[in-house]
Amino acid sequence: MKTRRLSASRPADVRRAAALLKSGKLVAFATETVYGLGADALNARAVLEIFRAKKRPAFDPLIVHVSTIAQFVSVSRGLSPLAKKLADRFWPGPLTIIVPKSDRVPDVVTAGLSTVGVRMPAHPCAKKLLAAFGGPVAAPSANRFGYTSPTAAADVLDDLSGRIDAVLDGGSANVGIESTIVWPHQDEIIVLRPGAISVETLAKLGKVRVRAHRPGEVLSPGGLPTHYAPHAPMALLPAGWPAQLRRLDRSAAKPLRLGLLLYRAQAVRSPHVRASVVLTRSGRPEEAAANLFRAIRNLDKMSLDAILAAPVPKKGIGLAIADRLEKASSGLRADAEFYRNLFKTRASS
Ligand code: TXA
Ligand code: MG
Repeated sequence: MKTRRLSASRPADVRRAAALLKSGKLVAFATETVYGLGADALNARAVLEIFRAKKRPAFDPLIVHVSTIAQFVSVSRGLSPLAKKLADRFWPGPLTIIVPKSDRVPDVVTAGLSTVGVRMPAHPCAKKLLAAFGGPVAAPSANRFGYTSPTAAADVLDDLSGRIDAVLDGGSANVGIESTIVWPHQDEIIVLRPGAISVETLAKLGKVRVRAHRPGEVLSPGGLPTHYAPHAPMALLPAGWPAQLRRLDRSAAKPLRLGLLLYRAQAVRSPHVRASVVLTRSGRPEEAAANLFRAIRNLDKMSLDAILAAPVPKKGIGLAIADRLEKASSGLRADAEFYRNLFKTRASS
């Protein structure tokens, strides 16, 4: 299969992309969070193809994207006042709302769950595609399962070229991090995945609870302990990391090839550091979020021994950045044992 590259700024291309969706094909498209891999949400066979293309396990439910409140109503069953209030306040935008599902939505979309995650995206590319298609579109992030999410059409092609029918290029995903997933339950807003809409912002609407991941639980597999992971090993740096790097053995015959993911710019002197990427020059967490996945993908192309991520302030969208780093590194810490193993592998390479 050859993957067509279509442009969201050409109306004929948007129509073409919508026609592909109508005929049960897969089309990746830009949203404000990350690129999604779309299929007609009401066509079970088309949705199955998403799992094949991404090599995604069937237990991982998809988010349904809508362009109207009528579509939201049609895929859900009995919307609570709190669910409506959340949609009203944050849509179109980077918020996914978990609601009871209607029978119209095939079980494969929700991995057999009785609930469905719904989101109305704000990016012009997604809006145009959804409007032209005229129905709900199931779409996970358009990456190979478990790998770093795509924030540009080129990332989608890196991962899925030849496995999907088209990508509708809408430029870069400006938020850069996936939607916040909330489950309105009774009078509480339960955050299942932190994202662009911060806990602080949600708290203005009601009581908020951030639900910690419980081992073995697959309520929200984006909550699996490993996800968003690069091919190179990744580990989290401790607070005193600059001194830690200065202390690393300088006499090694073969210095390590480390890549640093820095929140703010900082001079680092170590023979072991090959590359460093700064997430924000301004110190705005939104800027850091927008650069995060691009930075990880770029470092991952440099054949490094490891990618080390410096700590991130956990306020606002910073909580979502920290969540993605934790999962991309499977919670691995850059400690003495981590470096010892790297030196060993490097010496024998
Ligand atoms: O920003 C986003 O949410 C992007 C764009 C494309 O919209 N989509 C995205 O999809 O991140 P994906 O599949 O990579 O992550 C969706 C997460 C998964 O972890 C899934 O388990 C969770 O949403 N999810 C979907 N339906 C759910 C449900 N009914 N209950 C709990 N979690 C659900
Ligand atoms: Mg994903």
